[in-house]
Amino acid sequence: YKEVIRVEDITRFQSRSEEFFPIQWYQKMLSESPVHYHEDTDTWNVFRYDDVKQVLSNHEYFSAEGTRTTIAVGAKNKEGTPPDKLNISSIDPPRHQKSRSLLSAAFTPRSLKNWEPRIRNIAKQLVEDLEFNTTIDIVEKLAAPLPAMVMADLLGIPLTDSHRFKSWVDILFQPTTIENAQESEIKKQAAAQEYYQFLYPLVVKKRENPGEDIITDLLNVDVEGEKFTEDEVVRTTMLLLGAGIETTSHMVSSTFYSFLYDEGNLYGQLRQNPELVPLAVEEMLRYRFHNAKRHRTVKKDNQLLGVDLKKGDVVISWMSAANMDERMFDNPFEIDIHRRNNKKHLTFGNGPHFCLGAPLARMELTLVLTAFVERVDRIEAVDTFELERNLSTSAPGQSLTYLPLKMFE
Ligand code: HEM
Repeated sequence: YKEVIRVEDITRFQSRSEEFFPIQWYQKMLSESPVHYHEDTDTWNVFRYDDVKQVLSNHEYFSAEGTRTTIAVGAKNKEGTPPDKLNISSIDPPRHQKSRSLLSAAFTPRSLKNWEPRIRNIAKQLVEDLEFNTTIDIVEKLAAPLPAMVMADLLGIPLTDSHRFKSWVDILFQPTTIENAQESEIKKQAAAQEYYQFLYPLVVKKRENPGEDIITDLLNVDVEGEKFTEDEVVRTTMLLLGAGIETTSHMVSSTFYSFLYDEGNLYGQLRQNPELVPLAVEEMLRYRFHNAKRHRTVKKDNQLLGVDLKKGDVVISWMSAANMDERMFDNPFEIDIHRRNNKKHLTFGNGPHFCLGAPLARMELTLVLTAFVERVDRIEAVDTFELERNLSTSAPGQSLTYLPLKMFE
């Protein structure tokens, strides 16, 4: 296993709330130290848009391979890890191309079109079940269940089993703190094993009885003679869960947080004009998603960032900081759903590793917010809410564990 770089040693955030929305830190780094060497972790850190983009995409010089990483997610047993041939986020082109093609089978434009009505139904159902005129927790009722239910459906897991699926997912992607790391890893491995034992026979059945789902698509993959075994299909779904659940969930809850606390007029505007929802989704991805950082290892000595980089040096690209770079975005610290270059944010990465699930994530976010604004006239924050007490460490940095609001017809 790779050595995990402790990013918190670099940021030194003083509170969870600061990490949840570290714009002062970004502002400072962008202006004072845009290419920053951090001694304790022995890492270079880049913040400006052009540098971040370069590091992510220029794989001739900046490799996704290497022995150090900024990511620690999922369980570490065999059942919890993707098959070797899908080591997608840590290999470079040209090898990367094949892994990516294997996995792309699960994300064809045709499947996306098929999924749209299914995702819309799930989103609508969750929104229909929300109660008016009383305090509800939007994390519990919407942000947390949506991505898990969508993935269950897209994988073709029978509805009757979706509560079991959801409980495994909850454990697997439960935030880990330094204090509970060991205990949590044991639980995660157990959940990964149970999930594996549940899914394996289902995959075998799908071979006989194909469906309109990701498992069937994966079973049908054939890239230059390379196919998936049943074992590999099960473990591939684990990779998709790891990449797609917490991230999307985080984005839904952060968007509601933003409606309530950043920009009071935005919700009303969307209610009046639901067709603006996709623009709001893009702007929220830029403005409110703060896990976005990725590491690369220098492949060849270079000066592309204006400093001497040596082979083997580690560079961390702070995409969320780049999203606040005024060289790229006008008034970056303001929410503006109409900004001209609104899709240029780097929240989904850039270059060969650009998020494979981006179209799915965008679709989920758009459909759930549309269902919500179509039903709910107005939302209101709850006075007693304290942000600091309701955040928890997760793969996307700090995520809301509770966000109360009241909604009105
Ligand atoms: C890669 C972000 C949702 C699947 C990535 C990368 C980022 C990212 C930044 C690039 C990593 C790099 O450059 O090394 C996000 C965000 C999401 C999201 C912010 C939601 C708001 C999803 C979903 C799925 C998914 C829903 C699928 C179910 C993947 C996969 C990769 C990836 C498979 C690896 C691609 C590669 O290395 O070639 N994601 N993601 N993501 N994402 Fe997402």
